[in-house]
Formats: sequence, C-alpha cells, structure tokens
Amino acid sequence: MVLEIKNICCIGAGYVGGPTMAVIADKCPHIQINVVDTNQERIEAWNSDDLTKLPIFEPGLDEIIRRTRGNNLNFSCDVEANIKKAEMIFISVNTPTKEKGVGAGQASNLKFVEVCARKVAQHAVGHTIVIEKSTLPVRTAEVIQNILEAYQENNPDIKEKPTFDVLSNPEFLAEGTAINDLENPDRVLIGGQNQNAINALSEIYFNWVPKEQILHTNIWSSELAKLTSNAFLAQRVSSINAIAAICESTGANVREVARAIGTDSRIGSRFLDSGPGFGGSCFKKDILNLVYLSRHFGLNEVADFWEVVVDLNNWHQHRISRIVVKNLFGNVTSKKICILGFAFKANTNDTRESAAINICKDLIEEGAILFINDPKVIPEQISKDLGLNESKELKNIEYEKIFSVSGSWCFERNILKAVENADAIILLTEWDKYTKIDWKLVEKKMRKPAWVFDTRSSLDKKEISNTNLNLWVIGEGTN
Ligand code: NAD
Ligand code: UGA
Repeated sequence: MVLEIKNICCIGAGYVGGPTMAVIADKCPHIQINVVDTNQERIEAWNSDDLTKLPIFEPGLDEIIRRTRGNNLNFSCDVEANIKKAEMIFISVNTPTKEKGVGAGQASNLKFVEVCARKVAQHAVGHTIVIEKSTLPVRTAEVIQNILEAYQENNPDIKEKPTFDVLSNPEFLAEGTAINDLENPDRVLIGGQNQNAINALSEIYFNWVPKEQILHTNIWSSELAKLTSNAFLAQRVSSINAIAAICESTGANVREVARAIGTDSRIGSRFLDSGPGFGGSCFKKDILNLVYLSRHFGLNEVADFWEVVVDLNNWHQHRISRIVVKNLFGNVTSKKICILGFAFKANTNDTRESAAINICKDLIEEGAILFINDPKVIPEQISKDLGLNESKELKNIEYEKIFSVSGSWCFERNILKAVENADAIILLTEWDKYTKIDWKLVEKKMRKPAWVFDTRSSLDKKEISNTNLNLWVIGEGTN
C-alpha cells in the first residue's frame, strides 16, 4: 500500500531544510510543502522579495525559490498549524556538539530534536510519518518514537489518538553544490521498519531519483551510515593533509602524489585536495559523535582511531599559521596581512568551523593586522567567529600609523586595497574570483619582501612566479 502524501512539514529552515524542501517542491508540484522555523529573522529572509537576501547562498537556489515559493512552497514560523496539516514531517533542525554536561565536547546535543518530537506528539493529527533528516546518533529514532508514544500515555483523554512511523532519511548534500547534490544524488538512504511508510517516502523521491539509487536499510544502519560517510570523507582530507606535510619536508608535491594514488580505482580521486584543514558544521561534529558512541560501547581503540582525524585537522590548521609566521621572519606584529576567503569552502556563505577562524585567530594573537576579503561572508559573521569586533578605522588609517596597531582586523571588499602595503596574502578559500587576480598589479602594491601563501593550491602559480613575490603552496616541497 502506498500512502498518498499531499502535505509535508519540514521543521528547520537551515542549510538542509531550505534547499532540500525547495528541491522536493520543485520536483513534486502536487505536494504542498511548509517549512517552519522558530527563527523569525530566518523565515523573513526566506520570504524576502529580493532573492539575493535569502538566508543562505547556494548556486541555483534562488531560481528554484522563484519557481516554487508561494506556489507549493511556503516558509513560516507557525510550527503548530503546519504540523497539524502534515501527513509527513521532516525534522531538519541543528544537532550541535554538546557544550556542557555528560558527553560535553563530543556527544550531539539533541535538545532541538527532542523539542520537535514533543511538538509533533502534541499537534499531529491522524497518521503521521516522522522523518529524521538531521544527522543523529545511532538509535535516536527510538528516542523519537518513545517521546511520540509517551505523550499519549501522559494524555489518556485524547479522543482521536494520532499514530506515527519514524524513518531515518539522512541528507548527504554538500554546501556549495547542494542543488546539484539534491537533484542528482549518488543515493537516497531510507532506514525504517514499516513498509508503507518506506513506500510513501520512496514514492516522493521516485519523482526524480532512479529506483536503483534509493537504498533501504534498517533504521540503525541508516543513522550510522550518515556518520560513517562523513567520517570517511573527513579521514581522507586528514590523510592527504598529513601527506602534504611530508611533501613539504621531502621535496615531493602533494598534488602529484594525490593524482598518482587517485588513479588507483580502489582509492579514487575525490577528496584528495590538500587544503587548510576541513571545516563545515558537520565533519568534526559527526566524528566526535562517533567517538563518543564508540567509547559508550567500550570500544576505546575505535574511538581513538577516529579522534585522531580531528586532532590531525586541528594540528594542520595551526601548522599553517606557524608557517606564515616563520616565513615573515618569525614576527607578524603590526604587519598587514590580506586574507582571501573566510568561508569553509567556496560557493557558500557558511563559516562554521572554517579553517580561517583558527588561522586568523592565531595571527591576531601574534599581533597581525588582517584585511579580510570574502565574496559572500558578511563582516558581522566574521566578528562573531573571531570573537573580536571589526576595527572599521583600520580601513582609512594612514600607512605609517598602521605600525602602532596590533592584533586587529577589518573587512575589505576591494582586493587591491586589501593588499596595499601588505607583507603577505593568505588564500584560505578557493573562490574562483581569486584565480583571476592580476599578480603584476598586486606585486606593485605590496611591501617587499612580500609573500603569497596558497593553502588551496588554486592560484595561478605561473603568473605569480613571473613576479618578485615569494610563493608558498600547500604540500609543495622545495627540491
Ligand atoms: P542550521 O543551523 O542551518 O538549521 C537548523 C534550523 O533549525 C535553524 O534555523 C533553527 O532555528 C531551527 N530550529 C531549531 N530548533 C527548532 C525548533 N524546535 N522548531 C523549529 N525550528 C527549529 O542547520 P543545518 O546545517 O541545516 O543542519 C541541520 C541538520 O542536518 C544537522 O543535523 C546537520 O548535521 C545535518 N546536515 C547538515 C548538512 C549541511 O551541509 N549543513 C548536510 C547534511 C546534514
Ligand atoms: C560534507 C559532506 O561532503 C556531505 O556529504 C555531508 O552531507 C555534509 O558534510 C554534512 O553532513 O554536513 P560539506 O561539509 O558541506 O559536506 O562540504 P565538503 O565538500 O565535504 O567539504 C568539507 C571540508 O573539507 C571543507 O572545508 C573543504 O574545503 C574540505 N575539503 C574537501 C578539502 O580540504 N579537500 C577535499 O578534497 C575535499
């Protein structure tokens, strides 16, 4: 039997809820989709007439919103009313690492998920399929099911008792390519027991995903597969970053090594780009969650194995700052450094866990004056991430006076101004626009001896080597 779904509610209008529901709405015009969030500012931004003001930047998202919003896609703060109307509810709220209490620093904080489950228990009508879209520790579906059932035990007088099925349907999109990932997923994973519920969800994806790409597993495998997938990807990044450090010490070149190993079909070529260290809201959080889970089950060696992936990443980020300081004669106090890119990767405005945060904090701590540029990240976000307000006066300060300042930063939209009299440029995010920089012009503006640190190996090396700029590239040793 296939239950016909006409109305979906998604709780959480973030980086996952927004784009995922937009794509479902686009592919399923026969289904009404209501995305709800308690963050009013975010909902207002989703409803903004000016599509450049959407709360998240994702290539192609604005076009889909233009087509669907107001038709079968609606954004609102009215959580309860939209739960009531829905036959299927996606829980897509944040699951950050716990900051306090048992498991602090490793376990996922499930308070937002729990609030959602209680709201659903209270307001759902009839039979409702509840779907875990957030990334969750293994066996969270059990917690959700318990909450849904306990509400009825606590309220025996409810006349028409709602019924529920809980499924796991983790999301594998990557930011910056979210729309393409959602429209052409490698696979869609559905974990659960009840075949009718599984069929109802599969039926939605059949509108654009080939049947053979929809995988069905038991619910715990589905929850664990999501954590494992992120852990494997992050482990590859830490592995190649570790090899980059060996390359720099030995004269090897990490891109050549990556190409040589990536052509082995058993290894594959993706996720072998050495960079400033992985960022993003999930890799670190999900691995630490796996570490916590392993220790909980007494698997200490397993926990240690995965924890090293995160330790290596932290070490690698601080290694980059140390390399910059070392090359600038061991001192960056009152030196102007231009930072190219603050987002954790290109094509997103997301800065969560960006390597830029640790690297910039280290340099500010050393006394450097940072002029930060990013095409999509706003200065207010950088202030929050660095825990330090922007010094707007820096932008207009006379050059000589800059030496009386130390440990400060400002945002500079104009790259040529950001590099003026700078001792160094550090590329941290691989935005396409940075590959088009006129290095001859930049050279003229900088104070000599001047350095370019390319932590993504993405700048035009040939152009830079035609100038007098010193160039350091991640994972490139000198022969
Ligand atoms: P996010 O912080 O961007 O969005 C979560 C939203 O949920 C916020 O807007 C918040 O206000 C809202 N929210 C929290 N509690 C709520 C409640 N009780 N009622 C209504 N709204 C509530 O987070 P995200 O990046 O979209 O991630 C969501 C989940 O998806 C996480 O578990 C994450 O691990 C997972 N995930 C994220 C990505 C990614 O690329 N960001 C990819 C795959 C999976
Ligand atoms: C990652 C996964 O790729 C998604 O499948 C998953 O759904 C998502 O996490 C999640 O659960 O949140 P995302 O973090 O958006 O997606 O971006 P990635 O492309 O995976 O990049 C993560 C970090 O690794 C970035 O800082 C990126 O610059 C870095 N990276 C990636 C490298 O340094 N080298 C690479 O070769 C690839």
